[in-house]
Amino acid sequence: MLFKQQALLRQKLFVLGSLAIGSVLYLVARVGTLDRLQPICPIESRLPPPEPEQIPLRTLQFKRGLLHELRKGNATKEQIRLHNLVQQLPRAIIIGVRKGGTRALLEMLNLHPAVVKASQEIHFFDNDQNYARGIDWYRGKMPFSFPHQITIEKSPAYFITEEVPERIFKMNSSIKLLIIVREPTTRAVSDYTQVLEGKERKNKTYHKFEKLAIDTSTCEVNTKYKAVRTSIYTKHLERWLKYFPVEQFHIVDGDRLITDPLPELQLVERFLNLPSRISQYNLYFNATRGFYCLRFNIVFNKCLAGSKGRIHPEVDPSVVTKLQKFFHPFNQKFYQITGRTFNWP
Ligand code: A3P
Repeated sequence: MLFKQQALLRQKLFVLGSLAIGSVLYLVARVGTLDRLQPICPIESRLPPPEPEQIPLRTLQFKRGLLHELRKGNATKEQIRLHNLVQQLPRAIIIGVRKGGTRALLEMLNLHPAVVKASQEIHFFDNDQNYARGIDWYRGKMPFSFPHQITIEKSPAYFITEEVPERIFKMNSSIKLLIIVREPTTRAVSDYTQVLEGKERKNKTYHKFEKLAIDTSTCEVNTKYKAVRTSIYTKHLERWLKYFPVEQFHIVDGDRLITDPLPELQLVERFLNLPSRISQYNLYFNATRGFYCLRFNIVFNKCLAGSKGRIHPEVDPSVVTKLQKFFHPFNQKFYQITGRTFNWP
């Protein structure tokens, strides 16, 4: 009898004990959940959601065929709906510099399965008329992409246009900004060559580079000449730095992108938090073109248009030296600000 009562008592104690432990566990779990639902720190709740570190590349690789069709404008409305394709605002912009290799950079980044390029220069932020059309107009100019991909656009005029930094900041203050630069005098000559070709196409005559780059009355560098002004990289960058911290910029070496593109592209992949996917297979040197061309897969490859890689006119060596001396102090400042040094004279 006594034995039975003791057993009953033990059973009751066990049930009560279990209930107590259960309640404690429930309370602990509940408090944890509340913590997560209502962040104690109000600032935390204002932070943007973290950017995905890893992009599910296998899915993207699988759908790359469709993406290729999209790029050629062949995807149907049904496919767009079925695959959840969206038009996304750019997460990175190549803001310049004109003739630095902006097209080559964009096309090469587009080799990455997580990147989709906006094919045309959109000129949203530098053109008042376009800007007045609003952000939805801009989004509508973006290519269709999978939600995990990032869109990149390039409009080199952004770098030198006064209003652009503030406008881009208003759209996305944490956007990543790419600037591709070349040795400033070479870039200025390249700029001149492009304008010269345009004039010749219209059967118009044009001044020699020397006449434009040097002020004949003072024999000094003509800082009013746009091709010269654009090559003073630090002056333009300083305007951008009023809005964005230097960490949000990545400087690409445009001269190295010509001779050895892969290491430059790998640095950009890292800057954009993308896994390294562009390989030597994707880039092959085309001796006829004299440039690297792009290989997407076994059947699809392409070189840049003939307007990229023009032959420059010969420039008087004394003018070249004068320009190099002129750019030198600005270059030093540019290295200092960006933390990237070049072997420019
Ligand atoms: P040049 O025509 O002076 O040689 P952007 O696209 O910004 O206008 O820059 C044009 C420059 O890109 C060209 O200048 C060319 O040198 C350079 N470039 C870099 N990589 C290239 C490539 N793979 N194919 C063609 N041009 C390339």
